[in-house]
Amino acid sequence: MNRPSRLPSCERVLYGADYNPDQWLGEDAVLREDIALMRKAGVTSASIGIFAWTALEPSPGVYTFQWLDETMERFAKAGLSVFLAPPSASKPMWLSELHPEIRRVGRDGRREPSGGRHNHCPTSPVYRAAVARINRELAARYGKHPALALWHVGNELNGECHCDLCINAFRDWLKRRHGSLADLNRAWWTSFWNHTFTDWSQIPSHDPSNDGLTMDWLRFVNDQHVSFLENEMAPLRELSPGVPRTTNFMGTNRGTNYWQWSRSLDCISNDIYPLHDDRADSWRKALGSDFIHSLMRGLAGGGPWLLMECSPSAVNWHKINKLKRPGVHLQEVLQAVANGADAIHYFQWRKGLGGHEKFHGAVIDHAGGSDSRVFRECAEVGRVLQTLAPVAGLAPERAPVAIVYDWEARWALDASAGPKKAADGDRYTETCLEHFRALRCAGLEVDLISADADFSAYRVVVTPALYALPATTARRLSAFAAAGGGWVATYLTGYVDEHNRCWRGGFPGPELRAVFGLWNEEVDYLFDDEKVRVEGALFDSAGGTFATDIVERLHAEGAETLATVASEFYAGSPVLLRNNWELGDTFYLGARLAEEGCIAFYEYLAGELDLPRLVLPRGVVRKSRVGADGPIEFLFNYTREEVAVDLGEERFHRLADGQTCRGKTTLRPYDSLLKGVLPACVFPLAPHDPHPTRHEPQASALPR
Ligand code: GLA
Ligand code: ZN
Repeated sequence: MNRPSRLPSCERVLYGADYNPDQWLGEDAVLREDIALMRKAGVTSASIGIFAWTALEPSPGVYTFQWLDETMERFAKAGLSVFLAPPSASKPMWLSELHPEIRRVGRDGRREPSGGRHNHCPTSPVYRAAVARINRELAARYGKHPALALWHVGNELNGECHCDLCINAFRDWLKRRHGSLADLNRAWWTSFWNHTFTDWSQIPSHDPSNDGLTMDWLRFVNDQHVSFLENEMAPLRELSPGVPRTTNFMGTNRGTNYWQWSRSLDCISNDIYPLHDDRADSWRKALGSDFIHSLMRGLAGGGPWLLMECSPSAVNWHKINKLKRPGVHLQEVLQAVANGADAIHYFQWRKGLGGHEKFHGAVIDHAGGSDSRVFRECAEVGRVLQTLAPVAGLAPERAPVAIVYDWEARWALDASAGPKKAADGDRYTETCLEHFRALRCAGLEVDLISADADFSAYRVVVTPALYALPATTARRLSAFAAAGGGWVATYLTGYVDEHNRCWRGGFPGPELRAVFGLWNEEVDYLFDDEKVRVEGALFDSAGGTFATDIVERLHAEGAETLATVASEFYAGSPVLLRNNWELGDTFYLGARLAEEGCIAFYEYLAGELDLPRLVLPRGVVRKSRVGADGPIEFLFNYTREEVAVDLGEERFHRLADGQTCRGKTTLRPYDSLLKGVLPACVFPLAPHDPHPTRHEPQASALPR
């Protein structure tokens, strides 16, 4: 697999934001102030033009590049880099009115009005041609500009369109995939409810009662986005070959199989808006961000990636938009860097005066100027990132354990009626995340990989809820275990094939009963408030454990039973089993265990397989990126409370006050400490100050 590792060339961690000078045309004082304040905040780069199509082409074939010429020049002169965004994320009104076919159609067959964003039809030849045209203009004009560091292609490309163009393209796609209608009918099991298709033209884009169709529709939509992206990038590749290309991802977004997308890109970038500061759950949420960052690292082939959007302050789209508590923002930024981010960019540089995002956090507030808590905090982050220059380009260390994250398994589970859905509907990701957290709490480092990755690089591969399991993947995983690896599978493993058809011969399929030494006869889905007791010696230290939501009724067929169900009518049936498989070991956990139980299992696993681990108090995390001059280490307290740790002889620097810490140390709430690099600035950050400087209204123009 291609490793998307061509990053913008830079010897430091990049720092910047989405920047919309097109919203401020004619306001020269503001535009000048932007540059001055970017320099003051330690900014290196900005994404420009994301929603600026009409500002660049106000009517068909009429181009108004002057403002962008001037912006590029201003950036070059100030030593700032541009991530130039071809503007496909939002269609121009004139194009949308001239060619309604570029507007998306919903499942109900209704075409959307003009407006909104991220809502073009990905199939429309008219839109594809228009996008290729404007991109050709941009690439020809700016493709070799000294300020250009990266092509930021589109923005959060996603969603689906049910227009005739898309449905016809879907049918053609199905012909290529299945060959004949007879094969398609077999794959989708369409004799059920009399759904047999007798002509390609009968196939709809949506029928929730046909879960094979749903799988293929999701695959098709994903392919359509990738081919849209390829079409969009073609002129950039041709006319600006020296400049890398990315498009910004959205973590584990449902409809986008980013493993596939990553093969088309030079580098990986992601948007994430963590909300760690929760009274009860902050460390769990922070580990949730680690999970997403690890996925990005995996998508980047283990190398660095770019954090393309986060908020320097609150967002405007939660029900409650909290300000970040002192230390939280700095920690979120450093956490991304510790996980391999070589850029930290915000949405957004400056708040617009109107529109949907006028109250979304930004580096520059409506008040203008730099006299704000957020600006001061951002400037301090800028200085810290400058001192972290030595980490740029360094790959984070490879972990001994990998979790497989597989969009296809998620789609199949999602599409199937029966298995109990998670509270947010996404049982698959929930299971992956829970196992990630439990592994990390057990002191194990974890990478995220795809189902077609090279497993042999890992000691243990965990495949949470790998519900759809094609025979080839099952064979590769079995071979990994046979060669001496550890394979951990959970409930909901190997129920269906790639068409969402159940495996025969008993679960887990295909032919995995022998590999795991068990048979999964049936599954009990529990009431929301129901708990089933689980007993096994390895849970004694956790004071026993229990399961919620899902309990499979397993039978050992050669595997050793490590734990059994201890309540319900099937009490005594095994629920955690271990099997020797040639040179390796397989483990099967047939129930959704409570957190402490799941952690206890991974502690047991680490001990049994002698895996390297580092146990720290709950919510305290240590990460490193290793360079030629040795490692740079990050130590975080993800909790809202003080936590005592013993640093021994090691010397860390606390960013909150510049203190050197060693030996027995009390970590403050949301503390961030560094070792191996001396932070150039010391906080306290502005929010610690009980008497913030009174805000003096400022003229928005700064001296040049
Ligand atoms: C997304 C978009 C941005 C902006 C932010 C707001 O990530 O890409 O344009 O709307 O959300 O949080
Ligand atoms: Zn369409």
